Amino acid sequence: MKIFGLKASLLLMAILLFTDCLIVEGQACHPSGKIRGKKPPPGECNQGNDSDCCKEGKLYTTYKCSPTVSSHTKAYLTLNGFQKDEDGGAPSECDNQYHSDDTPVVALSTGWYNKGSRCLNNITISANGRSVVAMVVDECDSTMGCDSDHDYQPPCTNNIIDASRAVWKALGVPHDQWGGLDITWTDA
Ligand SMILES: *[C@@H]1O[C@H](CO)[C@@H](O)[C@H](O)[C@H]1NC(C)=O
Ligand SMILES: *[C@@H]1O[C@H](CO)[C@@H](O)[C@H](O)[C@H]1NC(C)=O
Repeated sequence: MKIFGLKASLLLMAILLFTDCLIVEGQACHPSGKIRGKKPPPGECNQGNDSDCCKEGKLYTTYKCSPTVSSHTKAYLTLNGFQKDEDGGAPSECDNQYHSDDTPVVALSTGWYNKGSRCLNNITISANGRSVVAMVVDECDSTMGCDSDHDYQPPCTNNIIDASRAVWKALGVPHDQWGGLDITWTDA
């Protein structure tokens, strides 16, 4: 009986540990790797709108996941141009189109973009006591960066909503503060 009791409690402990790990797995998003920055060829990194260029030798963390989405998911709002010849370069990944910066459109970090599952769906972004509904049209790549495909910009962190100026305007953020803001969002 004693031995059975030991086995049973070991089994119980194993089950507890296992479920504990599953819960942690569901919440935490760990880095997937690192990229070492290369110096962009002259004139190759678009510095407009606070875009960051990779620095030679600096290590940038990459992610395939993003934090779990809730009714008030914390994120960092950045500014992006979605028209032709702006920051992003290529047309939006969801529909292979450019979008007017006067429409509320966003790119999401890789984990939230979720292989396009949110493409052309709307999300509600809240900050500053206001909210705006914006359409998901693109990915903010958290898995790669510092190459010509990404305009020699670092990989996105895993918590980015990269938004058109229409979003910033609708949230009533003063123009000189556009570029970086803590916000919350949820699926609309
Ligand atoms: C910065 O963004 C604005 C509006 O989103 C756009 O008109 C402008 O061309 C962008 N500048 C650069 C250098 O990409
Ligand atoms: C998202 O919002 C836009 C603009 O209001 C609308 O045209 C579009 O149908 C919406 N998308 C979905 C999937 O509801």
